[in-house]
Amino acid sequence: MAGSRIDMPGFWRGLSARLVVLTIIFVMVAEVLIFVPSISRFRVDYLQEAIDAAYQATLTVRAAPDGRVTPELKAELLDYIGIQSVGLKLESVSYLMLGMPEPVEVAYNLSDQSVPVLIIDVFRTLAGPDDGIIRIAGQPRAVATDAWIELTMASGPLKSAMIDFSWRILGLSIFISVITAGLVFFALQRMMVRPVQRLTEDLIAFREAPEDVSRTIEITNRSDEIGIAQRELAEMERGLRQSLRQRTRLAAVGSAVSKISHDLRNILATAALVSDRLSMSGDPEVQRQAPVVLAAIDRAVKLCQDTLRYARADEPDLHFNRFELAPLIDDVSNALVGSGMTAASYRNAVDAAVVVHADRDQMFRVLFNLSRNAAEAMGDEGGSITVEVGRIEGGVTIDLTDTGPGIPARVQAELFEAFAEGAKGTGLGLAISRELTRAHGGDLTLIRSDETGTRFRISLPDRA
Ligand SMILES: Nc1ncnc2c1ncn2[C@@H]1O[C@H](COP(=O)(O)OP(=O)(O)OP(=O)(O)O)[C@@H](O)[C@H]1O
Ligand SMILES: [Mg+2]
Repeated sequence: MAGSRIDMPGFWRGLSARLVVLTIIFVMVAEVLIFVPSISRFRVDYLQEAIDAAYQATLTVRAAPDGRVTPELKAELLDYIGIQSVGLKLESVSYLMLGMPEPVEVAYNLSDQSVPVLIIDVFRTLAGPDDGIIRIAGQPRAVATDAWIELTMASGPLKSAMIDFSWRILGLSIFISVITAGLVFFALQRMMVRPVQRLTEDLIAFREAPEDVSRTIEITNRSDEIGIAQRELAEMERGLRQSLRQRTRLAAVGSAVSKISHDLRNILATAALVSDRLSMSGDPEVQRQAPVVLAAIDRAVKLCQDTLRYARADEPDLHFNRFELAPLIDDVSNALVGSGMTAASYRNAVDAAVVVHADRDQMFRVLFNLSRNAAEAMGDEGGSITVEVGRIEGGVTIDLTDTGPGIPARVQAELFEAFAEGAKGTGLGLAISRELTRAHGGDLTLIRSDETGTRFRISLPDRA
């Protein structure tokens, strides 16, 4: 794991590049949306200016004395405005005509400026011929009378003006999107990418050397999401580091305890041997005390053995067999009586037909632990221990109920933990029993415990 550094993605695979490309696309899309209305405005303004200029030409002609204007002047006027002919109507009556209209390809009416018509006319103009003739009809701007102008002109200049306009818009769009994308890139680089990279580097450093306090996540005073992530990750690192330290120490303590237990067991064996001899002494007082000493030594040996066994923490090697449950319960009951530690009556309520698929020896251990706890709890007062079997979906349950005084509340809090607080003995029986049932794919749970008694449940899944 150590040394396996993560390479940060290159520019094109990184977040910034993706956002730059996206920004350019978004700005271009926005520009396309703006383009259609603006080119249609451009076209209408262009044509309206032609109408206004044509109207001014008709005014010039009408201002001439007797309305006489030389054909040369008329031609010059039309040429100056860039149109071929113009007709003026006043109150719907044809009033004046300059130039001779030629047959036209397309006619546009500027009085209809609804959005669909404007958009369609834009595309008609752009798709139209470069050298055709078009007719434009409309009113001059800012004229009180209902003057109506109809003019004809070449389509080429309008079309090329519109194409020029489109190129200008395209150039501007590219310019704006590049500038915007650049700004987005730098902003992002500063605000997100660099801090995220730094955070990732810190995390990698932590993964490589979790115990190295000098390589903690750098916390800034940012109040945004990245700031929160920094603080949360730093907090997580602190917690992890602490539990790591704790685990390392616990492991050291564990191996020390194992060594002590091991040596102590050997010392106690010698002590047991000597006490055994003492019980053969002629002194009645010594004879009376020797069994007490022996029992105390036995308890100490058991504590050492249990601790050693637990500290080994090996996965129990399970040997699954199919066996009848009722005889196993009898064995447990006999062992309990044999150990001379119970005044309780043992009731085996398991049907002879019940067969389970499990490790018989380990199940014996579990049931014996539970039974011994019950017997110890009931003590000399006696009572009864009942073992029953039930079915749940996908498995069987084995309930062990006693009529003892119940488990004290403070013991219940850490009931299944090893060396539990308040345990009368070593405090390993239930922890080991639960571990064993879980290794079987089942569980050990406390169903009820009050002054009328205690019920534990072993559940075991069915096995094919
Ligand atoms: N049936 C029960 N009735 C009352 N108290 C119980 C019962 N079973 C367990 N306890 C309580 O729970 C504690 C923990 O039990 P556990 O079997 O884990 O440890 P232990 O019996 O103290 O020691 P060990 O089994 O390792 O020799 C017991 O000390 C006892 O106080
Ligand atoms: Mg016990």
